[in-house]
Amino acid sequence: MKVGVLTGGGDCPGLNAVIRAIVRKGVQEYGYEFTGFRDGWRGPLEGDTVRLDIPAVRGILPRGGTILGSSRTNPLQQEHGIRRIKENLAKLDVEALVVIGGEDTLGVATRLADEYGVPCVGVPKTIDNDLSATDYTFGFDTAVGIATEAIDRLHTTAESHMRVLVVEVMGRHAGWIALHSGLAGGANVILVPEQRFDVEQVCAWVTSRFRASYAPIVVVAEGAMPRDGDMVLKDESLDSYGHVRLSGVGEWLAKQIEKRTGKEARTTVLGHVQRGGTPSAFDRWLATRFGLHAIDCVRDGDFGKMVALRGTDIVRVPIADATVRLKTVDPRLYEEVGVFFG
Ligand code: F6P
Repeated sequence: MKVGVLTGGGDCPGLNAVIRAIVRKGVQEYGYEFTGFRDGWRGPLEGDTVRLDIPAVRGILPRGGTILGSSRTNPLQQEHGIRRIKENLAKLDVEALVVIGGEDTLGVATRLADEYGVPCVGVPKTIDNDLSATDYTFGFDTAVGIATEAIDRLHTTAESHMRVLVVEVMGRHAGWIALHSGLAGGANVILVPEQRFDVEQVCAWVTSRFRASYAPIVVVAEGAMPRDGDMVLKDESLDSYGHVRLSGVGEWLAKQIEKRTGKEARTTVLGHVQRGGTPSAFDRWLATRFGLHAIDCVRDGDFGKMVALRGTDIVRVPIADATVRLKTVDPRLYEEVGVFFG
C-alpha cells in the first residue's frame, strides 16, 4: 500500500517528528511505501511529490519546520480542486492520505473524507493550541518555552532601566501562548483575545507595579483588543489566511502606557521566532505518538479520523471535531491568573 503525507498551514516545531514516526512505523511494521506531497494541498493538487522513505527521515526528529514544505493552498477554492486531487492520488497509486495541519488544512481533510470519499487521516498541529478535541497540539510547548525565556530575559533589562516592557506573542483568536508564558514568566499583566482589555486598568496595574519598585512586564497576544478599539488595531490588508490583518497591538499599547502613566515603555514582538527551531522534548514526544497512531488508523482503514491527546492517551476522533469551533481560553482560567496582575 502507498500512503501520501502532507503538512499544511503555518509550520510548527514537531512536524518532522510526526513524519518520521509515520514513515518508520509504516515501513518497518506494515511494509508500506510513502509519497511526500510538497507544500500542503498544493502537492496533491499539482501532483508535486518528494521521496519519503527511511533515509529521507533520518536525523529529522530534532529539526524545526517541515521537510515537506507547507502552504495555505485551499483546493476547495481551486477550479476542479477535488477532481484534480483524486486524479493525482489515483495516478500515483496513493490509497490513503495523512494530513498534518491546523484548522484550515484539517477543514479541507474533513470535507474530502466525508463528502468526497478521499481516505484521509488527520494529525492536529498548531503552536496556538486552539484546536478542539485534543488537550494539546505539538508546537505549543516549544512556543511557550521560547516566549517564557524571552520574558525572563526582558525582566532583567526592564528592571535595569525601570521601564515597562510589552511582549507581543502569537495567538490571533486564542490566548493560550500568552496565558501560559505570561504565568510561567511572572508577567504582571496578561492580555488575551478572549477578553477585551481596559487600557486604564492596564495602566493602573503598571503604576502599582512601579510603586512596589518593580518594572512591569505586560504580555499581550497579537489578537487582544482594547474595549472600543477595533478601528485602532485593524489594518485594511488581508493575511495569508484571508483574515483582516491585525496591526501591532503591542506597539500601540506601549504608546498608550507611556502617554497615560508617564513611564518609559518598549515593545518586543516575538513573531515567527516562536514557530522556528528545534521542538521541545514534550513536542517531540507528542508528535511522535501522533505519528505512530496516525499510521495505525491507516492500517485499520479508519478514515475521516484524527488522532488526539486526551489526558495521557492518544484517541481517535472525527476530524471535524477539531475544527467545528476553536478552543479558546476559559474565562475562569483567565480570572485565576488575574491575582498576579498589578
Ligand atoms: O500558526 C498560527 C499562527 O502562528 C498564528 O498565531 C499567527 O497569527 C499566524 O500563525 C501567523 O502566520 P503567518 O505569518 O505565517 O501567515
